[in-house]
Amino acid sequence: MEFKIAVLAGDGIGPEIIEQAIKVLEAVGQKYNHKFHFTSALVGACAIDAVGNPFPDETFDLCMNSDAVLFGAIGDPKYDNDPKAKVRPEQGLLAMRKKLGLYANIRPVTTFKSLIHKSPLRPDLVDGADFVVIRELTGGIYFGEKGRSEDLTKAFDTCTYTKDEVIRITKLGFEYAAKRNKRLTVVDKANVLATSRLWRETVQEMEPSYKDIAVDYMFVDNAAMQIIQWPKKFDVMVTENMFGDILSDEASVITGSLGLLPSASVGIHTSVFEPIHGSYPQAAGKDIANPVATILSAAMMLELALDLQEEAKAIRDATDKSLAAGVVTVDIAEGKSYKTSEVGDWISKNI
Ligand code: IPM
Ligand code: MG
Repeated sequence: MEFKIAVLAGDGIGPEIIEQAIKVLEAVGQKYNHKFHFTSALVGACAIDAVGNPFPDETFDLCMNSDAVLFGAIGDPKYDNDPKAKVRPEQGLLAMRKKLGLYANIRPVTTFKSLIHKSPLRPDLVDGADFVVIRELTGGIYFGEKGRSEDLTKAFDTCTYTKDEVIRITKLGFEYAAKRNKRLTVVDKANVLATSRLWRETVQEMEPSYKDIAVDYMFVDNAAMQIIQWPKKFDVMVTENMFGDILSDEASVITGSLGLLPSASVGIHTSVFEPIHGSYPQAAGKDIANPVATILSAAMMLELALDLQEEAKAIRDATDKSLAAGVVTVDIAEGKSYKTSEVGDWISKNI
């Protein structure tokens, strides 16, 4: 089959890790007789530098006309300490989410046996942890009304949710739980926030339609604690935009494998697949960044957007093999380490 893939490499290590994912996809294409047509476009700081817009219209059009988007990373230190910057790379990401209607961010949290000793938690706590964080991505405080008083001494951000927004993301949570261990944890702050109460009320109304799923409700502060204390208790967690931003970062590091975890953002239009780590500017251009999260994001793309299950498994198997064989980058190497490009070559050859 033939597929059109939009490639948004972005900033920092984005281009070099994306290059490895493309290599691996080419290998999959050869083995299974598919043709992937890759077309690149600008996003993030490099797009600001080139055309003054972190998510240019041409990039949006390309995404809309593709079967899937493979995304690297965005962000540049020159913006991080400048709260006055008029345009920021992150605005490109938010614009992309909104315009593509990517209302759900899916982050599987899995452990890799060979990396458990890298976890900040005791090995017995994390060994076998396996859950999915589903974060609402186009609503809440990120997109609500915001502003500053005329004298600049006051600012506000509004958190808004509609019932329909809660229903569509929770539906996805129930569907994931049905395919997994049939447990759904709804994370909110219903003891304080009106949006959370709407959220909880809505999910309670939905519960009877999913009789085989066990639902529990947890306040976000408690959830932050329980992820650390007892990560193995979770199966599928669904939550609003900002809680999900924070909890998904927390969840991603407990496995010790930050550089290995992929994510998918799905919704109304084309889905986007990206590693959960950032643009790691200190490593840019050095051929040392770990490409595995991006390669596994390509596997998620095959699975969720292109329905190529066997091909997705081939990527996961080859990646597992590289970890077991110690063909890994310096961040996780015990002895000898390999370059970004060498890991990409090795995994491609083993497809
Ligand atoms: C993420 C990031 C973004 C977010 C930033 C870069 C705007 O932290 O994808 O989790 O807050 O959503
Ligand atoms: Mg985040």
